[in-house]
Amino acid sequence: MTFDAKARIARLRAEIEQHNHAYYVLDAPVIPDAEYDRLFRELQTLEAQHPELATPDSPTRRVGGKPLDAFVPVRHAVPMLSIRTETDISDAGAIAFDARVRKELGLGESEAPVEYSCELKFDGLAINLRYERGVLAQAATRGDGETGEDVTQNVRTIHCIPLHLKGCAAEVLEVRGEVYMSRKDFQRYNEKQRAQGLPTLVNPRNGAAGSIRQLDPALAARRPLSFFAYGLGETRGWASPATHGEVLAALAKMAVPVSDERAVVHGAQGLVEFHRRIAAKRDSLPFDIDGVVYKVNRLALQTELGFVSREPRWAVAHKYPAEEQLTVVRDIDIQVGRTGKLTPVAKLAPVFVGGTTVSNATLHNEDETRRKDVRIGDTVIVRRAGDVIPEVVGVVLDRRPADAGKPFDLFKRLHGKCPVCGSRIAREEDEADWHCTGGLFCPAQRRRALLHFAGRRALDIEGLGDKLVEQLVDAHLVETPADLYDNRKLDLQTLAALDRMGEKSAQNLLDAIEHSKRTTLARFIYALGILNVGEATAKDLAQHFGSLDNLLAADAESLQQVRDVGPVVAQSIVDFLAEAHNREVIAQLRAGGVHWPEHEQRQMTELPFSGKTFVLTGTLVSMTRDEAKEKLEALGAKVSGSVSKKTDYVVAGAEAGSKLDKAQDLGVAVLDEQQFLALLNVNE
Ligand code: IVH
Repeated sequence: MTFDAKARIARLRAEIEQHNHAYYVLDAPVIPDAEYDRLFRELQTLEAQHPELATPDSPTRRVGGKPLDAFVPVRHAVPMLSIRTETDISDAGAIAFDARVRKELGLGESEAPVEYSCELKFDGLAINLRYERGVLAQAATRGDGETGEDVTQNVRTIHCIPLHLKGCAAEVLEVRGEVYMSRKDFQRYNEKQRAQGLPTLVNPRNGAAGSIRQLDPALAARRPLSFFAYGLGETRGWASPATHGEVLAALAKMAVPVSDERAVVHGAQGLVEFHRRIAAKRDSLPFDIDGVVYKVNRLALQTELGFVSREPRWAVAHKYPAEEQLTVVRDIDIQVGRTGKLTPVAKLAPVFVGGTTVSNATLHNEDETRRKDVRIGDTVIVRRAGDVIPEVVGVVLDRRPADAGKPFDLFKRLHGKCPVCGSRIAREEDEADWHCTGGLFCPAQRRRALLHFAGRRALDIEGLGDKLVEQLVDAHLVETPADLYDNRKLDLQTLAALDRMGEKSAQNLLDAIEHSKRTTLARFIYALGILNVGEATAKDLAQHFGSLDNLLAADAESLQQVRDVGPVVAQSIVDFLAEAHNREVIAQLRAGGVHWPEHEQRQMTELPFSGKTFVLTGTLVSMTRDEAKEKLEALGAKVSGSVSKKTDYVVAGAEAGSKLDKAQDLGVAVLDEQQFLALLNVNE
């Protein structure tokens, strides 16, 4: 029995680590997440049942252990030194380095060019990974170069760092490199924090450093970090290759992440070309770099060159222009996005940062602006990295002038009105953003409102897509969805005169618009594009109120009587309907002929599945999932995407996955296809 468990555990560990590598290093997962989760849970369960089989290199150990009181100091077997930085960012920086190396090596002009290994200079935190007999034994920060801190628990949570090396059982192999946060992970993390009104990270470098030095490994595990190796520390029992380039290749073979953006080149010209080539693609790299690093490739030559004052003579960092700069906030504007979201934007004294001149930078939202306490007149740090929009990351308080503005107050600044259309602005409780409530009317939201209105799940106006909406808006033919039904504005002749239109397409569009007039109340409500009102909520509202007039008359309290409508959604609807501009457009739509069958409230709630929630999972033989959904909804049921305690039935077709597991865990009734069909028939 124990033997079986042991073999299964070993197999699972190997498989999971392989999937980790495919996912985190190669960026090419081979199995679905759900399957990975299943393997992981199986391993966790087996390890819990067999504590004697636990090992420090099991992938289950990546989830973080107990919080620490302090980090334990680690003395480095080989000091972790830093490298000289070449501040001349032009070609001259590379040429000067090559000249120094040649001079130190006593090479004459006629002698062959020196071979260099060129790499990126990653912008994160230096880490030493100590592998003993191929297993990750300890991870330490650089500290002062002699003594760092033991951050093994946190480093284990970095998925791309192998817990054991592939095909290397050397007594000791210390891998050195940089822990960093990718731009995407940084943005995603900050967006999540911002949406919850929580503090954001200043930049990816602080994100990486802060997470590694976080005493609670569970918190560290929440921050998505990555790693690239660039060298070695102590080695014992390892036959080193002759060049640095080969060392990196050997590490990559052991499944240690090594950046592909590296090259072995010859002479100053080779360095210059590498510097230029990387400069050209710096913006499109998925992570921040602040320069490149040149290293003499032959390890024997490195030894010969040695060190001056703790810096190797054989390596140099050659910088690029900074991605963060200081400048002054001249004003704070508020922009209205396509969804009506109001975003404060700092108007800056123009500054050259990240390769372009920047004069606007986003402040994201009111809370963030207040948290950073950005005021007009302040000196701020502006960041522009990659193709990400420039942002203000912080204020230099020492430089705040005596006459700086007041703390930012978005409502006051706008006198409560949308700067584009004058509609009221609102901010829902629990939401970070202010919105313009004039969704159907506001020019900033016009295109999106029209596209949404015409969408397949809304009024379904065939052929009214992106380009056509753009044309109609640009030609001032259509400003609100109601204009589509106003034949004084849209007629065959005017339409046919549009670019690339012609009479046939114009007639098709008019037919599609005519056709869309006959709709359902649920589709109509959804088409209005009310903040927080998706298709499911629109259906619930239609079912509950039965008629548009009932909905128009509802207050926040009666809205909350509707299934799944809480205070936030109710308030969004109240705000939308409180805006006279929107009501006007609704009235015009009805006057234009948009109509639907209306039901009495009572009639609707008496349907056989009223109040029942279903979840569909797996594949049904007799119908598609959409058809099943339609049938259920026609019988009054609500169809939800996820299983909870509130679910009444889960319909499980072939190959049902985690939803079925969850239903069983929660004790929710599960129907197979036969039972489901029987239920439909009985109730039809
Ligand atoms: S080599 C003895 N290579 O830059 C040479 N360092 O001062 C040791 N860094 O904090 C460093 N990318 O963490 C080297 N490709 C690279 C690097 C790199 C980033 C960091 C390193 C250290 C600083 C060097």
